[in-house]
Amino acid sequence: MILVTGGAGFIGGNFVLDWLSNPNAEGIVNLDKLTYAGNLATLDPLKANSHYVFIHGDIGDKELVTKLLKEHQPRAIVNFAAESHVDRSIHGPAEFVQTNIMGTFNLLECAREYWGGLDAAAKKAFRFHHVSTDEVYGSLSATDPAFTETNPYEPNSPYSASKAASDHLVRAWFHTYGFPVVTTNCSNNYGPYHFPEKLIPLVILNALNGKPLPIYGDGQQVRDWLYVGDHCAAIREVLEKGKLGETYNIGGWNEKANIDVVKTICCILDELKPRADGKTYAEQITFVQDRPGHDRRYAIDASKLERELGWRPTETFDTGIRKTIQWYLDNPAWIEGVVSGSYRDWLQKQYN
Ligand code: NAD
Ligand code: TYD
Repeated sequence: MILVTGGAGFIGGNFVLDWLSNPNAEGIVNLDKLTYAGNLATLDPLKANSHYVFIHGDIGDKELVTKLLKEHQPRAIVNFAAESHVDRSIHGPAEFVQTNIMGTFNLLECAREYWGGLDAAAKKAFRFHHVSTDEVYGSLSATDPAFTETNPYEPNSPYSASKAASDHLVRAWFHTYGFPVVTTNCSNNYGPYHFPEKLIPLVILNALNGKPLPIYGDGQQVRDWLYVGDHCAAIREVLEKGKLGETYNIGGWNEKANIDVVKTICCILDELKPRADGKTYAEQITFVQDRPGHDRRYAIDASKLERELGWRPTETFDTGIRKTIQWYLDNPAWIEGVVSGSYRDWLQKQYN
């Protein structure tokens, strides 16, 4: 068994489905609190899978985590569980401190105690893989080189500050206790099962529903985009072959300005599902007030991962975004399930 936390969310859900699509893979115990971002419908295909166990709970619950480690004896933990949306962290940072910092602290402590009680072989094989973000490195100017693993941490949002804090805890548990960790810092993901509060799924759904496509500020902020399946493959590589105590950047070599991402989505939708009035979806683009403290540019140098572990992304932005849009067109039932009252409340709060 491996223990995955946050496996009902976007990346965790894709990871669990990918992992268990290999019939020879170890089983998965998935611990998820099922916040607004957790969605069991993503994991429907696993209902009858005897290699999969779901546990509804909080990574910050010491008693629960201790009990499930004892019961399932995982040989690794992959920690996806987090509050993950920058805009929500601006409205309400407390949950971010609670889950991302205190939750990771609790998970580390419970895991360290469990690991300390393993026999020598199991102890040697054990891994704690912490999933983090490129946002911990702060913001780049247009001409700065991309982030490498040695960039100083300069987080700017409550979200990135809480992730940076969790990364520091993970690092310290390796240096102080010899606890076997690896950390990965990844750029912006996109793909199937993405909750429609983030730019790409929000724009796809708003376009199809005839709503405005909100671009913050001048739309010239740059992100590096990675297809979620490529992120999952990179995590599997690092979990398998990563050097203990190391951090690895994961990125798509796909830097794009937000306005260009949105225009690309509009063009593909014009082709796959033209508007009834024959006009382009780009007419729905609306510039709105900028995000406070909005980071201008993120860019990831993922060459360490390629050099040391041989990983490279397989999708370009053009192939990945087309697959993603097609997935949203083909899966109205999943979308219906996540667009609940609380989602509508969020849209009202954020976009008025
Ligand atoms: P998400 O918000 O879609 O999912 C998070 C999941 O964690 C949800 O299922 C939620 O129910 C669960 N969760 C939240 N608090 C919990 C708690 N206290 N205990 C147990 N479960 C809890 O997030 P995501 O986009 O899938 O991101 C997963 C991880 O990857 C996060 O750690 C995030 O920081 C990191 N990351 C995300 C991106 C991205 O572009 N989405 C990029 C780089 C890194
Ligand atoms: P997002 O998907 O929230 O990811 P992150 O903030 O973690 O990078 O946003 C991606 C970019 O798109 C970011 O620069 C903010 C911008 N954005 C908009 O312009 N409009 C929106 O409605 C959203 C949600 C994001």
